[in-house]
Amino acid sequence: MNDMTPTAAERSAKLEGMGCKRKRVEDIRFVQGKGNYVDDLKLPGMLYGDFIRSPHAHARVKKIDTTKAAAVPGVVAVITAETLKTVNLAWMPTLAGDVQMVLADGKVLFQNQEVAFVIAEDRYTAADAAELVEVEYEALPCNVDPLKAMAPNAPVIREDTKDKTEGAHGPRKHYNHVFNWQAGDKAAADAAFAKADVAIKEMIVYPRVHPCPLETCQCVASFDKVKGELTLWGTFQAPHVIRTVGSLISKIPEHKIHVIAPDIGGGFGNKVGAYPGYICAIVASIVTGRPVKWVEDRIENLSTTAFARDFYMETEIAATKDGKITGLRCNTIADHGAFDACANATKWPAGLFSIISGSYDIPAAHVSVDGVYTNKAPGGVAYRCSFRVTEAAYAIERAMDIMAQKLGMDPVEFRMKNLIRREQFPYTSAFGWVYDSGDYQTALNKAVETVGYKKLRAEQKQKQEAFKRGETREVMGIGVAFFTEIVGAGPSRNCDILGIAMFDSAEIRIHPTGSGICRLGTKSQGQGHETTYAQIIATELGIAADNIMIEEGNTDTAPYGLGTYGSRSTPVSGAATAMACRKIKAKAQMIAAYMLEVHDDDLEWDVDRFRVKGNPERFKTMTELAWAAYHEVPPGMEPGLEAINYYDPPNFTFPFGTYICVVDVDVDTGTTKVRRFYALDDCGTRINPMIIEGQIHGGLTEAFGIAMGQEIHYDDEGNVTTASLLDYFLPTAVETPKWETDWTTTPSPHHPIGAKGVGESPNVGGVPCFSNAVNDAFKFLGSTHIQMPHDNWRTWMAADKLGLHA
Ligand code: CDP
Repeated sequence: MNDMTPTAAERSAKLEGMGCKRKRVEDIRFVQGKGNYVDDLKLPGMLYGDFIRSPHAHARVKKIDTTKAAAVPGVVAVITAETLKTVNLAWMPTLAGDVQMVLADGKVLFQNQEVAFVIAEDRYTAADAAELVEVEYEALPCNVDPLKAMAPNAPVIREDTKDKTEGAHGPRKHYNHVFNWQAGDKAAADAAFAKADVAIKEMIVYPRVHPCPLETCQCVASFDKVKGELTLWGTFQAPHVIRTVGSLISKIPEHKIHVIAPDIGGGFGNKVGAYPGYICAIVASIVTGRPVKWVEDRIENLSTTAFARDFYMETEIAATKDGKITGLRCNTIADHGAFDACANATKWPAGLFSIISGSYDIPAAHVSVDGVYTNKAPGGVAYRCSFRVTEAAYAIERAMDIMAQKLGMDPVEFRMKNLIRREQFPYTSAFGWVYDSGDYQTALNKAVETVGYKKLRAEQKQKQEAFKRGETREVMGIGVAFFTEIVGAGPSRNCDILGIAMFDSAEIRIHPTGSGICRLGTKSQGQGHETTYAQIIATELGIAADNIMIEEGNTDTAPYGLGTYGSRSTPVSGAATAMACRKIKAKAQMIAAYMLEVHDDDLEWDVDRFRVKGNPERFKTMTELAWAAYHEVPPGMEPGLEAINYYDPPNFTFPFGTYICVVDVDVDTGTTKVRRFYALDDCGTRINPMIIEGQIHGGLTEAFGIAMGQEIHYDDEGNVTTASLLDYFLPTAVETPKWETDWTTTPSPHHPIGAKGVGESPNVGGVPCFSNAVNDAFKFLGSTHIQMPHDNWRTWMAADKLGLHA
């Protein structure tokens, strides 16, 4: 080796593999405005579709007259439920085992429900003509309150299922009941409460919110009548699932459906499901023989395509008087809107809500969730979280603070006392989840030290005294949250979508010159997959990340995958990528052994090459081996260097973190200033620290939006009062606080590279942290629980209730 020979460290750095803050390769096109989104697509002869929507939340549809709309020059067709019935598509199955109207069939069940679809030569003609469709409605009493949905005289929402005593998830108690789902041991939990020294019970409400991606849901359907083939471009987080569901619904053979998801401008769960817009665009293309585009506007997005949360969680904790938790119970009413279109793994009607015991060693626990129908839009998606985990984390973390308050303990001390201990991992929770790894005490200690927690509490005490003396009208709150996520759905033994096991896949081809392509069944919506999957391959195969192309979102080329949501890309497809690399590496090793005339076992891996053990001067680099794979393979070996892996994870991964937030609340205006927000995350092995930081910033910003102002609100008549960005709080750079990020690293023992998901953690942990901070500010005045969102008006009202404006 001469002085000019790069060292192993230098060769490794050049690869930009795992652990490197590699710049996002996709940004080269995004910052230049060269992204390729669905609405950029313009096909010859393309038509545009637009919906006529219901002004009523609940009404009988007496008559639809499309004559005037159809007569507008440029209008090609108007589709109603009657048209769809001719192809058996007036209703469609949902991912949750329910059915959903594509276009109003006899009744409308929520405001802005799709009633008819106008197809025209251009978007504006379609929109104008839609206004000319005449619909005669007979308004019906409506209900938007889930707590009243099962009252004896509640309006019947679903006439199609009114008399069914069995639903997709078992017996139904009432005509507006969707399902009851339970987990844990009720008898054990009840016994813990019977014996408890101290117990708390609080109705903790997580309001209805909406993921609100910048790019709304949209598609272009193009049916080729000659070939009988459908090409569907769309904002799909799960392209293969859309292909399979599309085939089942339309009866077009699956091999004749091509689904393409180009660049996507944010998804956050909103782009998982199938919507009436997709079905109508497909039918319209079949009917007209021309491509048809459908693009939601902002109001349509906020008021009709999948909402999130809407969980009413009566949460109880039992404990000993010295602060050891002995039991947990939670009875939840889940508002599903008019159709159960939740995007959960099929067997889990309340998702992974039973992660509600959180990060704590709780011996006995039980949850029960009742889903109900109301006159609201369907959905129930995981808005930047794994299915219903955010709801669970919010309930337990608020309840922990309420219990600490009752016990007169500090929230950190109470958590520390109950956290699962390092030596208990792998830890089996009272609900049966096996937490893979964790070091919770180290994380909490680091957080508390870094923010100077004791000093902050001392400052808060002084401020409280000053407030009582009337010297200030500001109260200070310190919010603490410790969360455990459950991501990477999922092991096929307990997770499927409509019967398709939730594995994922990666196919890697290494070209003769040593570069390659990797195709996956996941789909980035901004998470930077093109950057990070290549880093896994770089480390595994010793090929520079820059020499690897990542391709997602094309069902014709990618192996079957279940898509990207619930932070499953890294835990599942990241693992598939590493495993496919290992197959390639094993073959490369055999080629190297042949070329170096040694036994396979005499070789060792060294960053980007196989070298002979004890004789490092003799080696073959991956570039040399790639070339050899196409011209010099050992006798009997297939040429080429490629592999595919379908990865069925043995377990979920359990990322965790602890967040601390400091707020100052003005009791006279209700304004909350976030003074400080510290976020420590542990996602196991870190692939790209810069991307992780970006994910945390984005997720915390969404958490801030949810906790401090977001709500999809309905008035008593079922009108959506927050269906535009004037009324629905989407934080901009102006309102967004500054984030301090930190980490610990506890690898997952069952993941090939030890990585856990991260993208959703900040939403899961952020929301309770903000809420705990605002609630903490008012604790010394006797307040126990103020519901989210903590906007100025509600905070002012809370202060008013405490008599602070007298
Ligand atoms: O499924 P989704 O992409 O939304 O979530 P994720 O698996 O948590 O990944 C989000 C982004 O963070 C991806 O670009 C990952 O490669 C990256 N990430 C990372 O760099 N290290 C981890 N341990 C986890 C994720």
